[in-house]
Parts: sequence; C-alpha cells; structure tokens
Amino acid sequence: MKIAIFGDIHGNIEALKAVYNGATALKPDKIYHLGDLGGYAPYVNEVVEFLVKHDIEGVQGNYDDAVANDREHCGCKAEEPLQEEMAHLSFTWTKNRVSLESKAYMKELPIDIKFTAEGKKVLLFHATPKKNNLYWYEDRPEKFFHEMAQKGDADIMIYGHIHKPYRKDIGGKIFINAGSVGKPKDGDLRACATIVDITKAEVQTEFIRVPYDVEKVVAAISASGLPDYFAEKLRRGA
Ligand SMILES: [Fe+2]
Repeated sequence: MKIAIFGDIHGNIEALKAVYNGATALKPDKIYHLGDLGGYAPYVNEVVEFLVKHDIEGVQGNYDDAVANDREHCGCKAEEPLQEEMAHLSFTWTKNRVSLESKAYMKELPIDIKFTAEGKKVLLFHATPKKNNLYWYEDRPEKFFHEMAQKGDADIMIYGHIHKPYRKDIGGKIFINAGSVGKPKDGDLRACATIVDITKAEVQTEFIRVPYDVEKVVAAISASGLPDYFAEKLRRGA
C-alpha cells in the first residue's frame, strides 16, 4: 500500500496544489493530511475546500482545534516575544476569516486515524499520541520515542507539527515526521509531502519536495493584512 501524506498546510493553497500534483503522479492508493490547515497564509477556506473536493481524509491539528473552538491561543510555542506577537496576529486573523463550513470541518476531524497495511499497524496523528501540541523533534531522546510508541500502539507512526521531515527506526518501530506542505522550516522552501510505501517486506519513505510560486503567496500574505513576518519566513523555508 502506497500512501501520500500532507503535513501542516497552514493556509498555503499554492503549495497544496503543487504537492497534490507531485504526489498523485506517483499513484498513491490513498492521500491523508495531518491537520493545521490555517494560519500564516490567507487561504484557510480554500485549503479546506480543496481537501473536501479531493476526498483527502485527515486528522485534527492543534491549530484546527483552536480555530474551530474559538480558543484564546493557537497552542503553538514561541521562542521569542516577536514570534509570539506575530503568531497571535495570524491566529486572530484566521479566526476572523474562517468560514462556518471550514470551522465545522475542522471541528469534526478525528484526533487520529488507524489502519492496517500489509499486516502492519499504522497510526496518523498531528503531533504526538499523547498531546496534540508537543514538539517531537528528531533529536528527542530514544526514551521519548519508546514512550510514544507504547502510547500509540502501532508499528508505523506518521505525524507532523514541527515542519521538519525525518524518519527514525527505533526498537522495530518506524517514526515518520511528514514535514510541512505550506510552511517548511528545514531551510528548503519547496513544499514537502511524504510518500510511504508499505509492503510485506519493507517500508519505504520518500520526502518529495515540490517547487511552487512562493512569491504569489508572499504577495497574497501582504495584501491580506497578515504579518509580512510570515512572508519572509516562507521565502527562507524558516
Ligand atoms: Fe501544529
């Protein structure tokens, strides 16, 4: 079974269209998204419409929960005061622009999706099986991976939230961070999607990077009233 995974789209419809074309060319059996559909770029409603139209199932991110339920804070962690301020502006902007239909869609997203492929248990979620806004970086101690594996009870775990793709094989389990479609933070500004090919014998992972018109989204961010701060980050993949 070959699946394509779209992590953290964050209101970037141009990046979503690009990875959709890139991923479908590889003929996956199924496409999933990992939530965090709005914020930072203006196309939150267009992203939801695209996912519905193309029948792409997915899970709820911390941002979706916060937007859909009108929470005070997006649940994202800021490293410095400017980032906190900008994140809050973006969150407020998104809450003001999101349609009732998009909110209903986000509210109903499941917290995880579980299925079996070629005898292997696969679990998809946004951040961790324990908490939906923990940052599960690649350099977390092995103990953390073991703990999450126990909590998740799956052979293959696929998640996002940190916007930096990786795969780690620990203790017979496979941990895949699918990266971010719409707001990569690994220095590569191209949109990221992850292809996981599961056969009886092995599990292959490919992170595909697809170029798209970043400047078009940069201009749209400026025109929308969202902070230019995020346009600059998009340009740098930061
Ligand atoms: Fe997130």
